[in-house]
Amino acid sequence: MNRLSLERNKIYQGNLLLVNGSCPIMGRRERDLIPADIHFPEILMRHDAAVALQQILKEIDSADRIVPVSGYRSKAEQTAIYEETLKEKGEEFTGKYVALPGHSEHQSGLAIDLGLNQEEIDFICPDFPYEGICEDFRKAAPDYGFIERYAKEKEEITGISNEPWHFRYVGFPHSRIMLEKGLSLEEYTEFLKSYGEDNRLIYRRLEGAEIQIYYVPAKEGETVISMPETEVYQLSGNNTDGFIVTVWRKII
Ligand code: DAL
Ligand code: ZN
Repeated sequence: MNRLSLERNKIYQGNLLLVNGSCPIMGRRERDLIPADIHFPEILMRHDAAVALQQILKEIDSADRIVPVSGYRSKAEQTAIYEETLKEKGEEFTGKYVALPGHSEHQSGLAIDLGLNQEEIDFICPDFPYEGICEDFRKAAPDYGFIERYAKEKEEITGISNEPWHFRYVGFPHSRIMLEKGLSLEEYTEFLKSYGEDNRLIYRRLEGAEIQIYYVPAKEGETVISMPETEVYQLSGNNTDGFIVTVWRKII
């Protein structure tokens, strides 16, 4: 058995961070950022998210019909966007579509705004309709770890108005489970707390593999997780109070 010893501040790292109006981004500036698309070198995402994004675009044969509009933002960038939108569009619009500085998923490097490639692309609300190539993207996204983060029917929960263009990388199979169960990231974070090491959520819809998911509350000091040496697993903090363990098992 390996004993993984996790410091409490590790809850602020990973693909499953919950970032919203009440859960700010914590910790250091993101590293591990690469261009979301080689044709747009200034639009960055975390490495795994960028790779998955490219896989989706290839899968749906997007060519250049879908373009990235906004990826990673530093706190200074989010502040500038917030203040400019406030000045130009007013408080109500800004509250609906721009997260408070320090509270934007874009600061995690795990979010991307996408737009239909056309002459005029709105930076805050790009066109990304529920049809055509954009809908092809939306349908394929959960197989590659992405969710449409701000759904119309979840506005009360997310605190942000429907954003058909904003996608968030959470990793597979979490994206699929959220879709199948109709859960926002806020709800999924809570839902996972009913699973523990001895009572795991089992995901079996992948041929030859079984994925087990469970929650471990963070201790004040170090949190210890025991893991068999041969286990293939991923760890993520939830940005509030604990860790999500995802174990991949081959089944014969
Ligand atoms: N548009 C999203 C909510 C953001 O500003 O992070
Ligand atoms: Zn966005």
